[in-house]
Amino acid sequence: MFRNQKITDDIYYVGVNDRQKAKFENLIPLYDGVSYNAYLIVDEKTALIDTVDIHFGEILIQKILSQLGDKGLDYLIINHMEPDHSGSLRLLRKYFPNMTIVGNERTLSMVKGFYEIDGSLLKVSDEESLSLGRHQLQFFLTPMVHWPETMMTFDHADKVLFSGDAFGSFGALNGSILDENLDIDKYWDEMYRYYANVIGKYSSPVQKAIKKLEHLPYEIICSTHGPVWKINLKKAVEIYDRLSSFQAEEGVVIVYGSMYGNTELMAETVAQGLAEAGVKPVIIHNISTVDLSIILRDIYRYRGCIFGSPTYNNGLFPEMEDLIRKIESRGLKNRIFGCFGSYTWSGAAVRNLTEFANRLQWPMSDVMVEEKQGLKKDNYESCLQLGHQIAEMLQNPVQFNKGC
Ligand SMILES: Cc1cc2nc3c(=O)[nH]c(=O)nc-3n(C[C@H](O)[C@H](O)[C@H](O)COP(=O)(O)O)c2cc1C
Ligand SMILES: [Fe+2]
Ligand SMILES: [Fe+2]
Repeated sequence: MFRNQKITDDIYYVGVNDRQKAKFENLIPLYDGVSYNAYLIVDEKTALIDTVDIHFGEILIQKILSQLGDKGLDYLIINHMEPDHSGSLRLLRKYFPNMTIVGNERTLSMVKGFYEIDGSLLKVSDEESLSLGRHQLQFFLTPMVHWPETMMTFDHADKVLFSGDAFGSFGALNGSILDENLDIDKYWDEMYRYYANVIGKYSSPVQKAIKKLEHLPYEIICSTHGPVWKINLKKAVEIYDRLSSFQAEEGVVIVYGSMYGNTELMAETVAQGLAEAGVKPVIIHNISTVDLSIILRDIYRYRGCIFGSPTYNNGLFPEMEDLIRKIESRGLKNRIFGCFGSYTWSGAAVRNLTEFANRLQWPMSDVMVEEKQGLKKDNYESCLQLGHQIAEMLQNPVQFNKGC
């Protein structure tokens, strides 16, 4: 029944959209779904590259059968074992009992561990090749992007890189799968959000992978989530390269928590200071109403961060505590930092935020503002000044590059 979309003459898309899942990994909200991409190569031998979440296993099988008829599936190549991609493995084995499962040593041990499958396995090592006929597949181990077994598969015949989660994004695919046929603009924000939340902690392995594959003449990237990259391939790789080397765009993100509005007023004032000094864009997130996945996305994206928190039980506002823990666990580098806060009897928020920036060695403004109770004239002026100083630091990063 299915008419599978073609990527090249004999590479077909057999993936699916998930518009039902509320939270990816049960953590990260999905606003516009996510796709689980799988690809079928029909040559003298046939090969499927990755599977899909088990909830869509039957659709995957039907898509494969529509293409192959009674030809049979010779290989399943596993680039990544996370269950959003390996989930349909057992089902696939039932339909195609003679299929050989191809993976590296770590992959095959997970195949056993998750699915108790240990027959018809083909272990491949780094840079080893497999011929399907016209298609010559070569495997490149890229450990920790973002699991230990991850690898990428390059097809020399059609110059296609099957990259696993790398270069992926959230967002279901509406009608088409190729970037040239999609309304592509909506995916960039979702690529940042996917990177910051799923891959960001593994930036160093991503850098290694990008460097390792640099010499390959790939013209199409088929990742496991989001559009197939063709005309926007360079931009997609550049974004991953930039994010994984902690480079950022011009702009400042102000994140604040506030129970009764005192810290919020400080946030508005700091923003005014930034704008007066010509900073664009200035983004303001109320940490109680904006999802952390969006806040992390913007912190990965922009060079300046200013955090504000009331003192809460001798520490930070709980959501702010959560945010700084998440940033620290990702080891994000090279952000220009400022902070402010509000307290009533004994301030602790600004001290906590300063210590956080010191631990990450982020350059920090020497203007920090901590107001006792309502915001008054002196500290109102200091908030404006904080905005001005961060603007200056953005303009002269070298001078402030030593950390704090
Ligand atoms: C649950 C709770 C705990 C607080 N803990 C402290 C504290 O430990 N030390 C302090 O000086 N003020 C504390 N405060 C007072 C707030 O920090 C202070 O009122 C601040 O101005 C609130 O800022 P906001 O208006 O932005 O919410 C606490 C307030 C609340 C509601
Ligand atoms: Fe993954
Ligand atoms: Fe994935």
